Order: sequence, then C-alpha cells, then structure tokens
Amino acid sequence: MMKPIAAMRQSIRLRKMRIDGHGDLEPVYVWDALVRLTHWLIVGSIAVLAVTGYYLGKPFAQQPGPAGAHFTTGWIKVIHFYGAIVFSLAVLTRVAWIFLGPRRSGWREFVPTTKERLRHIVGVIRFYLLIDKDPPMAVGHNPLAGLTYLFVYMLYGLLVLTGFALYSVNAPTSYMRMWQFLLPIFHGAQGARWLHHVTMWVLLMFVTAHVMISLLVSRTEKNGTLDSIFSGYKYLPKDRKADDE
Ligand code: HEM
Ligand code: HEM
Repeated sequence: MMKPIAAMRQSIRLRKMRIDGHGDLEPVYVWDALVRLTHWLIVGSIAVLAVTGYYLGKPFAQQPGPAGAHFTTGWIKVIHFYGAIVFSLAVLTRVAWIFLGPRRSGWREFVPTTKERLRHIVGVIRFYLLIDKDPPMAVGHNPLAGLTYLFVYMLYGLLVLTGFALYSVNAPTSYMRMWQFLLPIFHGAQGARWLHHVTMWVLLMFVTAHVMISLLVSRTEKNGTLDSIFSGYKYLPKDRKADDE
C-alpha cells in the first residue's frame, strides 16, 4: 500500500499534469469584489487593532511630565478607535452581504445544510490527517473552512460588542452611551475588558493557523485558492459535479 505522503505527492504530480498539460481546469469566479474587499479591510484593521490593543492592555511607555505634554496612550487609543470604525463597518457590510449578495457569498458557505457538505467535513479532516490523498472538491469555502469562518465571525461580533461596551464607559454625555446596556451582560467594564482581550488572542490563534493552511493548500491543491482571495478566481475541473453551484 502506498504511504500517505507518497500518495499525496503522486496526487500533486497528477494534478500538476492536468493543469500544465491538458487544460481540463477552468477559471470559476468564486469571490465577488465585496467579499475580497471586506476580507482585506478586516485583515488591515485587525493588524492595527491588535498592535494598539496590546499596548492599551499594557501601556508600557513611561514618559515624565503631564500627560497632555505627550499624550502617547491617548493617540494610540485614537488609532484604536479609527481601526475599530473600519473593522465594525467592514464586518457589518460583510454580514449584510451574506443575506443580500450572490449565493456564493451567502450563509450556506458557512453553515453546512446538506448531508453532502456534512460528509465533506469528514473528508477534509481525513485529508488533513493524510488518510485520504485528495480533499473533497469544493467550489467555494470547503465546508470545514466555512464552519471555522462562522466561528470567526462570532469572534468579530464579540470584539465589536465588548469594544462598544468599553467605549460607553468613557462616553457618559455622547450618544455612544447608548451602548451602556451591554455592560451588565459582560459583568461590568472589567468583564468586558477581559473578554475583549482574550478574544483577541483566540482570533490571533485562528489567524496563525489560517495563514499556514492557506500556504499549505496553495502548495498541495494548486487550484488557485490562495490567489482567489485577491483575484476572485479558482481553477476547478470542468467535469466537476455541480453540487453546490
Ligand atoms: C480585532 C478587533 C479588536 C482587537 C484585536 C482589540 C484589542 C484590544 C485590546 C487587547 C485592548 C486592551 C484590553 C485590556 O485593557 O486588556 C483593547 C481596548 C479597547 N478596545 Fe479594542 N480591539 C478590537 C476592536 C475594538 C472595537 C471594534 C472597539 C469598538 C469601539 C474597541 C474598543 C476598545 C476600547 C474602548 C478599549 C479600552 C481602551 C481603554 O483602556 O480605555 N476595540 N482592544
Ligand atoms: C487577520 C488576518 C485574517 C483573518 C481574520 C482572515 C479571515 C478570513 C475569513 C473570515 C475568510 C472567509 C471570507 C468570507 O467569506 O467572508 C477568509 C478567507 C480567506 N483568506 Fe483570510 N483572513 C486573514 C488573513 C489572510 C491572509 C494573510 C491570507 C493569505 C495568506 C488569507 C487568505 C485567505 C483565503 C485564500 C481565503 C479564501 C479561502 C477559502 O476558500 O476558504 N487570509 N479569511
């Protein structure tokens, strides 16, 4: 019996022959401009929010003199809030697009509703464990990735809600005090602060795995998945089953 790694290498070679030689793959437009734009706006704002948020959790810059003379932590807070505006609006837009946009950007990409998609989750896990040499074919997100993204969107929601709850503490006179109703839900400002902080680390764990898996998939599957989040196109077999299109 062929060893799993040898089987995977052979499968890669066969796939490469198909792509280079026979052209039986075709470009399929999977991610519309809004999905790609919001992905990269969210990535950019998370980078800003994680760096500034880490500092806000542990403001290590020690400067002598009155705070008004340098205002370091104040400026970092301002940058955090601008990042928060971009992040919240991009998340809100993408969530609205789940219901208003084309089918490929919709909720079925995240929630496995068919028996086939549920079965494919097992198939993807078997592929990652090197039990199967090929992953099940997916036009959009593979069902395991889709389910993970559902969890990621929940993390986004938690960051936004705990963030606005924290903001309301220092906004007793502006309209932003309307978010104060969130504070008891999170057991006050300290509870919200703790959850806001921990959620950042959980999100950063996902990001590490997500980038590594994107690079791995780009190396093994060679169907343009990594490219697709820039160009919108994947390269898929012409004779694929039209299961989820
Ligand atoms: C990916 C998104 C975000 C990340 C990674 C993030 C990260 C953080 C971290 C680590 C802290 C420090 C918490 C601590 O004290 O230990 C913080 C503080 C804070 N964040 Fe965020 N945040 C995000 C989004 C938001 C959003 C959407 C808002 C909405 C307004 C927000 C508002 C705040 C506020 C008000 C504070 C408290 C600042 C203070 O100490 O006065 N954050 N953030
Ligand atoms: C803060 C960092 C990141 C986060 C939170 C993140 C999150 C996500 C989410 C939620 C999706 C689903 C998109 C949707 O349908 O709305 C996605 C898709 C994708 N992301 Fe990221 N991403 C990050 C960074 C990156 C980076 C740096 C790369 C490239 C190396 C990347 C490559 C991809 C690819 C290729 C897809 C589509 C893959 C698929 O079909 O499942 N992401 N990402």
